[in-house]
Amino acid sequence: MEEKLRNIDNEAGQAIAKAAGLEELNEIRVKYLGKKGELTQVLRGMGALSAEERPRIGQVANEVRASIDNQLSARTALLKEEAKGLRLKGEGIDVTLPGTPVLRGGKHPLTIVTEEIQTFFLGLGFSIAEGPEIETDYYNFEALNLPKDHPARDMQDTFFISEETLLRTHTSPVQVRTMEKTAPKLPVKIIVPGKVYRRDDDATHSPMFSQVEGLAIDRRITFSDLKGTLDLFLREMFGPKTKTRFRPSYFPFTEPSAEVDISCVMCGGQGCRVCSHTGWLEILGSGMVHPRVLEVSGYNSEEVTGFAFGMGVERITMLKYGIDDLRVLFENDLRFLRQF
Ligand code: PHE
Repeated sequence: MEEKLRNIDNEAGQAIAKAAGLEELNEIRVKYLGKKGELTQVLRGMGALSAEERPRIGQVANEVRASIDNQLSARTALLKEEAKGLRLKGEGIDVTLPGTPVLRGGKHPLTIVTEEIQTFFLGLGFSIAEGPEIETDYYNFEALNLPKDHPARDMQDTFFISEETLLRTHTSPVQVRTMEKTAPKLPVKIIVPGKVYRRDDDATHSPMFSQVEGLAIDRRITFSDLKGTLDLFLREMFGPKTKTRFRPSYFPFTEPSAEVDISCVMCGGQGCRVCSHTGWLEILGSGMVHPRVLEVSGYNSEEVTGFAFGMGVERITMLKYGIDDLRVLFENDLRFLRQF
């Protein structure tokens, strides 16, 4: 019997030494030490032993159990260590290196200002509309009362893709695109944020820049609605002390048209370098929607009127934050962007 027990110890020892994984070790444990395991089977036969033999065999059996147990534990620990070593080697990780800090992202100043403009107009019941940046000559110019060869096209030096397609020079084409879809429903109240493109490039002009367009169409909309809306908006954007000034201007798609100025944000109207000593800063273009634009978009110009305006987000951002070079808005220098 003792020999049998020693054999079990040997056999189990060899199996454990060869075991390649934790699962295999578990199978070995069941096979030898489990309830129906080999060691247990042998112990069951102890009843047949004589009284002197029993304690001795019992002791051997205990030794064998402890021995198998120890070998199992040792092998388990070894395999676990090996697996960890392999994993670390394979991934090339040095766990003692300090971690890489994750930089927190933030909103770009142009996004902050665009969202601020949107929030204001959403509060007045406007909704947000969008249109394509690659636009047709028709929507960018023709439908806005700017026929081919119209001299006012020169105000917007254009990137043409072909004779009939171009990069939109303003967000105004979305006025027509939207009205075409909504006509004859009233009212139309939209703002249109988006990128626009012109052949310009210096400290205050970029070939790509951002605008927010506004359009309100309904029965009996008047110039006072335009004035009141923009007055409120500009005070909200630049502070309650801001004064506004509406200067007669010309856009082919509005009649009458007005350029809107605010009292200089730097000097408060006293006159300084930023406002070229005039006390005023030009901030956006606006006017009453031209009857012809209403008609091509499907509205009856005898029944409805409307106002429209368009502003440059870069310019507003620069004035709001006192930025004197437009280009920093596009260079993605973190030293600049972290300040917002
Ligand atoms: N689209 C004009 C521009 O980019 C601005 C404008 C919009 C003027 C709406 C009047 C009405 O210069």
